[in-house]
Amino acid sequence: MDKLVSLAKRRGFVFQSSEIYGGLGSVWDYGPLGVELKKNIKERWWRSMVHERQDIEGLDAAILMHPKVWEASGHVAGFTDPLVDCKQCKNRFRADDPRIKGTPGQPDAQCPVCGSKGTLTAPRQFNLMFKTFMGPVEEQAAALYLRPETAQGIYVNYLNVLQSSRQKIPFGIAQIGKAFRNEITPGNFIFRTREFEQMEMQFFVKPGSENEWFERWRAERMQWVAALGIRSEKLRWHQHGKDELAHYAKDAYDIEYEFPFGWQEFEGIHNRKLDYLDPKTNERFLPYVVETSAGADRTTLVVLCDAYREEEVGGEEAAEGGDMRVVLKLKPSLAPLKAAVFPLVNKEGMPELAHRIHDDLRRHLKVFYDDGGSIGRRYRRQDEAGTPYGITIDGQSTQDQTVTVRDRDTLKQDRVAAAKLVEYLTQKLAG
Ligand code: GAP
Repeated sequence: MDKLVSLAKRRGFVFQSSEIYGGLGSVWDYGPLGVELKKNIKERWWRSMVHERQDIEGLDAAILMHPKVWEASGHVAGFTDPLVDCKQCKNRFRADDPRIKGTPGQPDAQCPVCGSKGTLTAPRQFNLMFKTFMGPVEEQAAALYLRPETAQGIYVNYLNVLQSSRQKIPFGIAQIGKAFRNEITPGNFIFRTREFEQMEMQFFVKPGSENEWFERWRAERMQWVAALGIRSEKLRWHQHGKDELAHYAKDAYDIEYEFPFGWQEFEGIHNRKLDYLDPKTNERFLPYVVETSAGADRTTLVVLCDAYREEEVGGEEAAEGGDMRVVLKLKPSLAPLKAAVFPLVNKEGMPELAHRIHDDLRRHLKVFYDDGGSIGRRYRRQDEAGTPYGITIDGQSTQDQTVTVRDRDTLKQDRVAAAKLVEYLTQKLAG
């Protein structure tokens, strides 16, 4: 994991938030390549959910919502983790922290940090929602929460969307947006953070059809994940046991990935039992919803972990750039940069032609120009960035207007007419 975190920083994927002030715990910023990668994943999700289907509408609801939403949804009462404090060293832990020996609140319990015995308090429920205030005077202002999931924006707009879009049940509403949780045990890079993005879709179904739709959505979502290019042996299902189910769920499956720190979920498919009360009619409504809930950041981490390889290379490549390489084997359509343009040397008309090619490609694809250092080093830098194609302008190029295109994964080189590059790359990048 450390190697991936350091590559992410070195190549501009992810930086620690507020690093120059010492960093803010479990909050991360996406750099030039990271923002492209995450955007490609979100766009792919949006396309498959909203554009390619007739039965799902998009939404972008506000992060701030009426505080009653969170009472009605059960989050004020139930979105909690049990915590214990050490009275000696003042550290705070989840009550089920496996490092705690004994029973918190009892004399035998031992603090995992300072080692004191009998200093851990009995567990207390700690709400994970961030509170803030609306209005100019804090004391008189309404207390609000930053949403801990995006789903509620969908629920409260259910009728608005239904009526304005002329959809009929079964239909869904999809949304991508930020969510916030004051996690007690965040960590593992962008896996569990306090500010993150979710890609959620609520599918409203007729009573009695929820189990069938639940199974359909499970199959759809696994297919979508596989199409990101993730190795199938690194993916599995996990069904929630009764004690794991969230306060709203009737049945739930997670899609898990084998991260370097073990199997963990990155997407959940939930059969939600809602019990919203219509304040006007006093009727309970919308009880049957199948939810697919993915983390955009966690999916990005899955994609990065799965793409990361250290490889031995041979032949000409080894001579030019060393015999070991780190490469991100990202699916080309997800890669932040689609190609890099390299003049072999900075003379003999090569830079001029390379700039012309770069300018032309730039209008179609996200491409990068690099004329620094040996060609081997330039290849290695783009391997680490996950750039699928390297375009080299050499002596022959200035004679016959052809270039070499190096494939990141096979290391094979094709000679392609400069005028045909857009067509060549577009074909390769499809999918
Ligand atoms: N609306 C249902 C819901 O929010 P969840 O299992 O709590 O369900 C869904 O979250 C997904 O959101 C997770 O699978 C994960 O990908 C992402 N997620 C949740 N908490 C997160 C956190 N603290 N940091 C990063 N991603 C998180």
